[in-house]
Amino acid sequence: MALLILLLVINIPVQSIGIQPKDSVGNNPGMLNAENLVRGERLFFGLVYQDNKSINCAGCHNTRESDTLNWNPDALEISRKYLDKTTEDLNRVLLRPSGQKMAQVHKGFQLTTEDIILIKAYMDRFVDIGLKKNKPVITNLFLFIIASVLFLFSITDLIITKIVKKRWINYSVLIVTTIFIINTLVIDAIALGHSKDYAPFQPIKFSHAVHAGQNGTDCIYCHSSAPYSKIAGIPPENVCMNCHLMVRNGTRSGATEIAKIISAFEAKKPIEWIRVYNLPDHVFFSHAQHISVGEVKCQECHGKVEEMNVIKQVGDLSMGWCINCHRTKKINIHNNKFYSEYIDLVEKVKKGVVDSVTVRMVGGTECMKCHY
Ligand code: HEC
Ligand code: HEC
Ligand code: HEC
Ligand code: HEC
Ligand code: HEC
Ligand code: HEC
Repeated sequence: MALLILLLVINIPVQSIGIQPKDSVGNNPGMLNAENLVRGERLFFGLVYQDNKSINCAGCHNTRESDTLNWNPDALEISRKYLDKTTEDLNRVLLRPSGQKMAQVHKGFQLTTEDIILIKAYMDRFVDIGLKKNKPVITNLFLFIIASVLFLFSITDLIITKIVKKRWINYSVLIVTTIFIINTLVIDAIALGHSKDYAPFQPIKFSHAVHAGQNGTDCIYCHSSAPYSKIAGIPPENVCMNCHLMVRNGTRSGATEIAKIISAFEAKKPIEWIRVYNLPDHVFFSHAQHISVGEVKCQECHGKVEEMNVIKQVGDLSMGWCINCHRTKKINIHNNKFYSEYIDLVEKVKKGVVDSVTVRMVGGTECMKCHY
């Protein structure tokens, strides 16, 4: 009986705003009027105070794309997850959170059922509209176009129209724009196809700083083919599961990110990692050659991976990048089966004719070594 009264009490304000409780919001788009969406938005952004406290969902769940790593699931992710769930499901994670992280972050929320229906109605919209994009800043292309227009104007004015009486103005404009245009063209031509600092957004917030840094897991544990194969290899889900069968909660991301590994593993659907380092097809590169023969450390080419939350391309992978190292990098020619054919060089080092051997001296700058 008490329950019935409670239900009635909760239902009154719900009915009065014209939305039915539970999942009928999602199934009844007609019920969603603009006013209710705005109310949902205000709740989501913490603009409505409850007991002098506001809950800013957007403060933790990004509503726009971000370049920096935010460990919390973003608004789009949680909206997708709850699109087909009921308001009661959302009630549960907001008012009676379970799980280490969830209980910590969704603590002491005071929201009425009406609030939660409005929040859900607002959240459901993300699935269609996605996260807000950051406005592009004035791009180089824009400046390039302006410079080209100014250049054309000045040159036609100097030769044909002669509107500007003071000729030095036209000359200065010409000089400045010419320098800018050539500079841009040269820089872009060199950078074409190179992507230093490339750090794409990955489907799971996998952090090398947590695994290789904090946990101290060896690179080879996951990239196991690196010492004996051309490729280093990205670990399949069952390698993650060696540990994540047990570890279901992360200190930073809670259960959300690790749950993605488990569902990928169970569905036998490989996680679609986005490739960061990529050489063009006409170049030959082997990890085994560098790691096992050359004894080069991963960090010399990939930077301090164990400090990166998001992998970022270090070095531009240009031909010059490879050659610069081959010119100066010393190799250990003694006790290395691979160099047994270089008897002359070994002798020279012994006799003190040369004090060390670089990669170049064993042919590391010959075109055919790197090009098929
Ligand atoms: C627990 C497993 C694990 C460990 C340990 C690990 N990695 Fe990774 N590594 C991954 C996964 C998964 C990816 C793909 C996702 C990504 O790019 O962040 C990856 C990606 C990379 C990439 C980018 C590959 C590409 O897409 O081009 C590099 C480089 C790399 N790891 C180097 C290292 C180095 C160096 C170490 C040791 C300091 C290391 N990794 C330790 C799992 C691991
Ligand atoms: C001499 C430089 C160099 C060293 C040393 C090196 N890498 Fe790489 N790595 C590269 C280059 C270049 C690529 C891109 C290769 C390509 O596109 O064919 C790459 C690609 C990768 C990739 C993604 C593609 C793949 O091969 O699976 C991973 C993962 C990776 N490296 C991990 C490692 C790890 C782990 C180590 C240390 C055990 C290491 N690398 C050592 C230069 C290096
Ligand atoms: C050698 C054991 C081991 C392996 C293998 C491993 N992990 Fe982990 N991972 C851990 C531990 C331990 C934690 C908890 C770290 C913490 O909370 O500080 C963790 C945490 C995480 C987190 C959450 C981080 C946070 O703090 O919220 C993610 C996401 C994750 N791992 C993804 C992966 C993926 C993807 C793979 C496979 C490519 C993988 N892990 C392989 C041990 C491992
Ligand atoms: C202090 C930060 C914080 C605030 C404020 C916050 N959340 Fe969360 N929320 C999190 C974190 C962190 C997780 C992931 C926890 C986990 O996976 O263990 C999460 C998870 C969720 C989930 C997914 C639950 C699931 O089943 O995976 C939903 C839905 C959600 N939040 C909605 C909201 C709404 C709506 C609000 C505002 C009323 C809100 N959150 C406020 C941090 C926050
Ligand atoms: C950090 C230094 C370093 C960088 C960067 C580097 N290498 Fe090397 N490379 C070495 C060392 C050391 C060896 C010696 C191993 C050997 O003699 O085979 C080597 C050997 C080689 C060899 C075998 C040469 C031979 O004599 O058989 C090839 C091929 C090669 N590298 C290709 C590349 C390519 C392609 C790149 C750029 C994408 C690259 N390397 C970048 C250090 C480097
Ligand atoms: C140590 C390895 C290495 C050696 C030795 C090497 N190259 Fe390259 N080369 C590369 C790499 C890596 C690229 C790809 C650069 C890129 O993507 O911009 C490349 C690209 C090229 C290209 C395509 C143009 C470009 O810049 O993309 C040409 C042409 C070329 N190399 C010619 C040569 C010739 C000729 C030699 C011998 C004198 C030579 N290479 C020796 C690694 C090497």
